[in-house]
Amino acid sequence: MKAVIPAAGLGTRFLPATKAQPKEMLPVFNKPTIQYVVEEAVSSGIDDILIITGKGKRSIEDHFDRSFELEYSLQNSGKTESLQEIEAISEMADIYYVRQKKQKGLGDAISTAKNHVDGEPFAVLLGDTITQSRIPCTKQLMNTFHKHEASTIAIERVPDEKVERYGIIKGNQISEYVYRIEDMVEKPSLEKAPSNLAITGRYILLPEIFDHIKNVEPGVGGEIQLTDAMRTLSEVYGYVFDGKIYDIGNTVEWLKSSIEIALTDDLVKDELKQYLKELLK
Ligand code: G1P
Repeated sequence: MKAVIPAAGLGTRFLPATKAQPKEMLPVFNKPTIQYVVEEAVSSGIDDILIITGKGKRSIEDHFDRSFELEYSLQNSGKTESLQEIEAISEMADIYYVRQKKQKGLGDAISTAKNHVDGEPFAVLLGDTITQSRIPCTKQLMNTFHKHEASTIAIERVPDEKVERYGIIKGNQISEYVYRIEDMVEKPSLEKAPSNLAITGRYILLPEIFDHIKNVEPGVGGEIQLTDAMRTLSEVYGYVFDGKIYDIGNTVEWLKSSIEIALTDDLVKDELKQYLKELLK
């Protein structure tokens, strides 16, 4: 299966940090956000990745490319560990790029992947969402997808105050973790939301989605919404992902994710814990 990572959004919620750099390159602890996303695809067994970029996103391509000057300099100064880490980034997967020419929404961004996915089911991993779990989120979704062979998306129960930030589903629970989706609505008000189950940025889609995207009208924000295209599919499943999701599209979540991920790192966790304790006193 191929993966598609949309990373073309403007990142306006992070201005001025994203004035001259893509939000997907904002570091979470010690890596750019999008590196976690690529690593999730790779650890799910995917080695062909299409990143959808746009204006001002060149540093994403540079990040996953070789950097001969840097490698040469690390080698000469004997920094073998850093050298290996840097080399590994450019060897992780076959990464391709396509540019979304106008900011017309997530649905429109996905439609630029049509030729690359070439009539096969494909995974979508939003470039500003990180997941942490024992079995990678995309792998879990693929396992559920193979049971139904229909489009399958990750969902998560969110508190009331977060409902209007997400696509929200209405579904029938058919097993402990799986819902057959009856409808979905993009960023509803809490009153209009059919549930608290939010679409969380990981999808396995059948290629029929491209025709559905072509037929939807602009929705929330005047944009072509992926949610609006998916709601016209005849069969979609929602899978309650077993793990933790960080939606980096929001500054507070972004800070929390850096702290939580740093607290899992053996080299820094003790010092950080001590610092946080002192700070909160
Ligand atoms: C997008 C999707 C939305 C989904 C969300 C997850 O919205 O349109 O359905 O719930 O990602 O992060 P965005 O965050 O790009 O506005």
